[in-house]
Amino acid sequence: MSAPKIIIAIDGYSSCGKSTLAKELARRLEYNYVDSGAMYRAITLYFLRNQVDISDHSKVLDAIANINLSFVFNDQDQRSDIHLNDENVEPYIRDMIVSEKVSEVAAIREVRSFAVGQQKRMGRKKGIVMDGRDIGTAVFPDAELKIFMTADPEVRVMRRFKEMYAVNNHISIDEVRHNLELRDYIDSTREESPLHRAADALLLDNSGLTREKQFDLVLGWVKDREPATTPNS
Ligand code: DC
Repeated sequence: MSAPKIIIAIDGYSSCGKSTLAKELARRLEYNYVDSGAMYRAITLYFLRNQVDISDHSKVLDAIANINLSFVFNDQDQRSDIHLNDENVEPYIRDMIVSEKVSEVAAIREVRSFAVGQQKRMGRKKGIVMDGRDIGTAVFPDAELKIFMTADPEVRVMRRFKEMYAVNNHISIDEVRHNLELRDYIDSTREESPLHRAADALLLDNSGLTREKQFDLVLGWVKDREPATTPNS
């Protein structure tokens, strides 16, 4: 009999390895994984494609009304891809053009309430690992396990550079560093649900941790928080 499922909320700065950890946990625990950043990226892609003027409140609301987001399991890659109005937009949402705009779009109140509403619905049945910037503070303030991830800034720059260089060998380390610094700044100083550690979130600095060590540590935290199995569960 497996333990009753919980909600695991993972927050932290860009490129701290949140999604790697979240995906591994979801796979091992047979939970759903939701990359909330992918939702803000898909919304940003829609705004860019449709040249939505983000300074115009009513244009933003009209645009949101035309956006439908869903996660669709991709058998080939064994992961969920984000679909924007039924189009798989995974191949486009991590481009620099989206990365440069996403923090600005994610700071808009109407965008956040649209995304957060959908995220809360996804957690109704528990058994979910969600990563982002406000998951433990705004989306699931009652999550059974909250983790706030951090890592040395240069470690993060090199991680993101390697990821981006694999798809675009014109990218420079300076460009990546600048983008990360700017996003950290906007994400943690915006008015709407800024990135900050929830009082009850466990701090995880993985600068010097191997993936396996980190995983074992967090799995221990999960086991501590899972409710005891009852005969009827
Ligand atoms: O995790 P990521 O780098 O893919 O996220 C992209 C952007 O989306 C990030 O700069 C901030 C924003 N974001 C957010 O504001 N709230 C979330 N829950 C997730 C992401």
